[in-house]
Amino acid sequence: MSSAPARPEPASGGGAGVVPRHVAIIMDGNGRWAKKRMLPRVAGHRKGADAVRAAVRTAGELGIEALTLYAFSSENWRRPADEISDLMGLLRHYLRSEIDELDANGVRFRIIGDHSRLESDLVRMLEEASERTAHNRGLTLVIALNYGAQDELVRVARSLAADAKAGLLDPAAIDAEVFESRLDTQGLPPLDLLIRTSGETRLSNFLLWQAAYAELMFVDTLWPDFNGDALRDAVAAYGRRERRYGGL
Ligand code: FPP
Repeated sequence: MSSAPARPEPASGGGAGVVPRHVAIIMDGNGRWAKKRMLPRVAGHRKGADAVRAAVRTAGELGIEALTLYAFSSENWRRPADEISDLMGLLRHYLRSEIDELDANGVRFRIIGDHSRLESDLVRMLEEASERTAHNRGLTLVIALNYGAQDELVRVARSLAADAKAGLLDPAAIDAEVFESRLDTQGLPPLDLLIRTSGETRLSNFLLWQAAYAELMFVDTLWPDFNGDALRDAVAAYGRRERRYGGL
């Protein structure tokens, strides 16, 4: 018997005027934004961090439950060392300068990805931010760091195989729900809307399992220009789409 896919019920999102519960964004185009202005790439990333602040504020205002941002992919290690260091520095700065306000606004902070390759002080800051805000009940802000969907799926497969080998899990009992319970995104609402900025039309190894029933939206705006109104427009366009989850 094949197991039913773990899929959200239609009531959880989509349809006229409905606000998506979980929005994910591939924040692309910082480098091109800077290049157009003959600025160094880091200037684009800095402006990108401002766009993150705007997106978080707007997501909270719209009543979105979870916002997942692709801040650093497992493939981004291929970038020059100084750019990687700039990105990590911006993240440190963002955490230091925003955590009080995020906490005061009821935002729950969470990270996904494999953190074994990140610098230990940054991991500590990220963990502290997650622990400090764990009890909050507002928007869940999820930052994907050293995240790759294939890596996430391999980690799930390994953990299931290890439990099966140890006799703790019957392989026949593995279904979509069991699988999902071991993903980094465990416990988050189903992904309703995935946005990529800058005109690229790829998923680039982001949330491949979670995107199974998500609405995909590709917008031309470069990430640093993606302001609160742009997110409101995307959410309004989502509300006009019809989601059928394989039904009629
Ligand atoms: C893609 O632009 C963007 C990134 C790889 C990183 C996103 C990082 C930020 C927005 C800054 C800090 C993040 C947080 C959470 C505070 P790109 O450099 O690939 O642009 P390009 O394709 O135009 O070169």
